[in-house]
Amino acid sequence: MRELLTPVVVAPMAGGPSTPELVIAAGRAGALGFLAAGYKTPEAVEAELRSMSSPYGLNLFVPVPPLADPGAVERYREALLPEAERYEVDLPPVRLTDDDHFAAKVELAVTYRVPLVSFTFGVPSAEVVRALRAAGSAVLITVTSGDEARQALAAGPDGLIAQGGGAGGHSSTFTPAMYRGDRPALDVLAEVRAVTGVPVVAAGGDTPALLAAGAVAVQSGTAFLLADEAGTRPAQRAVMLSGAPRETVVTRAFTGQPARALRNRFVDTYSALAPVGYPAIHHLTAPIRAAAAARGDAEALNLWAGARHAAGRPGPVAAVIDALRA
Ligand SMILES: Cc1cc2nc3c(=O)[nH]c(=O)nc-3n(C[C@H](O)[C@H](O)[C@H](O)COP(=O)(O)O)c2cc1C
Repeated sequence: MRELLTPVVVAPMAGGPSTPELVIAAGRAGALGFLAAGYKTPEAVEAELRSMSSPYGLNLFVPVPPLADPGAVERYREALLPEAERYEVDLPPVRLTDDDHFAAKVELAVTYRVPLVSFTFGVPSAEVVRALRAAGSAVLITVTSGDEARQALAAGPDGLIAQGGGAGGHSSTFTPAMYRGDRPALDVLAEVRAVTGVPVVAAGGDTPALLAAGAVAVQSGTAFLLADEAGTRPAQRAVMLSGAPRETVVTRAFTGQPARALRNRFVDTYSALAPVGYPAIHHLTAPIRAAAAARGDAEALNLWAGARHAAGRPGPVAAVIDALRA
């Protein structure tokens, strides 16, 4: 696996930003890129796998256990009714489970012998890890603490991704009720390295500092959101280029899983009300987010971004990679 990893890794970014063009351009610029399988149909994932030639990775969402208290999601649905009115959409009935076609996506990874497969939101079974490794894939599991690292190691991965609290987008935390996103990436890396000798990729911090601290590679997402090849929504690009820097916060308001996002009206209104509840809350807010995107209204969009988002610059992915290496 070490021979596949490059010091800069382009993170998987589900929901649009990750495109095959981004991954291919990263490869040409000498960096490993990840396709993001999250939310996509298996057919869409397969089409992307077919377009790959140089080494690449594929990221999968591990299904989370069903909610203990669905009532909290019903109450949140009530709280969101004014938003439904505002954006002229109907909120769907609460949908508690969705495995994101996990088994079919694992099967595709096996069939296409994907060089690197990473997991987020939890630990895949040892059987899944064995099947991927038998097909020739190297397996990485994302963790946010030493304790999660121990749990992940039991599944037999080739390495771990240590995600720091400043990371943009969803946290991979296995305990979303407790997650605050306040642990620096260097601390998480040190804690994870203390429990294992397997290679550790870091995420959510400064690339040279994390490499110097022993990370085999650093996976960055936010820095690539403004790349020409990224599929970032125009409304998010506009906010990031507006010259009026916004704070980022960790919020469950959009999906029920803590995620770091740029503050906007939706974050400020609903963060205190949103319970833990991925994927139920993801489905609940989807029509609001879709309507806001169609209107070019960034105030009800999930503007995933990391704490260091202000350093982002538009341009080709190769230039972003060079800037991260420096
Ligand atoms: C827009 C966006 C989408 C993301 N989607 C995923 C994803 O689908 N799977 C995943 O494992 N990580 C995802 N992440 C988290 C990254 O893997 C990584 O932890 C994070 O980007 C690192 O912090 P940085 O954004 O400050 O570079 C996403 C991050 C962003 C910014």
